[in-house]
Amino acid sequence: MKNRSLVSINDYSKDEYLKILDLAEEFEKKPVRELLAGKIVATLFFEPSTRTRISFESAVNRLGGRIVGFSDSNSSSVTKGETLYDTIKIVSNYCDLIVMRHPLEGSARFASEISQVPIINAGDGANQHPTQTLLDLYSIRKTQGRLDNINIFMVGDLKYGRTVHSLLMAMSKFNKITFNFISPEELKMPEEYKIVLDNLGLKYYEHKDFTDIVSEADIIYMTRVQKERFSDPIEYEKTKNAYILKDHMLVNTKPGMKVLHPLPRVNEIDPCVDENPKAYYFTQALNGVYVRQAIISSILGLI
Ligand code: CP
Repeated sequence: MKNRSLVSINDYSKDEYLKILDLAEEFEKKPVRELLAGKIVATLFFEPSTRTRISFESAVNRLGGRIVGFSDSNSSSVTKGETLYDTIKIVSNYCDLIVMRHPLEGSARFASEISQVPIINAGDGANQHPTQTLLDLYSIRKTQGRLDNINIFMVGDLKYGRTVHSLLMAMSKFNKITFNFISPEELKMPEEYKIVLDNLGLKYYEHKDFTDIVSEADIIYMTRVQKERFSDPIEYEKTKNAYILKDHMLVNTKPGMKVLHPLPRVNEIDPCVDENPKAYYFTQALNGVYVRQAIISSILGLI
């Protein structure tokens, strides 16, 4: 992993995922370590973020490194017409690592090809969000005790949700995974991802409604309908409240089942669910700090 960018979850092997997760466990036990003394990490967020940016910055601070960058590209020379190419050329001279979120699919790969330092993709359009996936894997392993033999239900916006795309690709590397997709017709899992599963001989089932079959779930992975990706606001209005998870819908689920959500949520999880021991999304977001500490220190070769 040393000096390698993390653009797609497919850039790392299954063994490398497991190394990151093991290391994250160490950071969870002891989060404050002076591994990044003298190192500078740039966070370039061309799109809004709460968890990803702040957990990356928290991770760097806990490791004794320093942060430069912007959380709003309107405060950068992008507003004067500077290209992504020039921005990356310049910033990569100022730091040891760049964490970038950008609305365009493929932008992180493009940045990695011109940057002099590794790039971590913090989300590129509807494409990928690999660090979210690693914290999702960490959360699944921590709650289920395994990453094989998992029945996962992905619910909501499976078309534009980059977190489900990355997570599907990662989980397809483990054994005996069953995928259940619950989405409106307009927001179904794209064909390209189903083809990946078909080629691997993995099972998936598509549903339009929450059904009793959810009682078989090990993980329910809720997602927000991604308003910012819709070109037609009427289409967003039609689908925005397609699924709202309520407490009573969890009654017949397995005792160890957990509800994950990459967050932010809008309406898709009723706040009453927060008190249910099956709700895990807030701890999942906390896990992001440990996992990002593990990713940064691995890429910078400090472990
Ligand atoms: N999960 C996630 O990417 O959240 P933010 O958009 O707040 O970073």
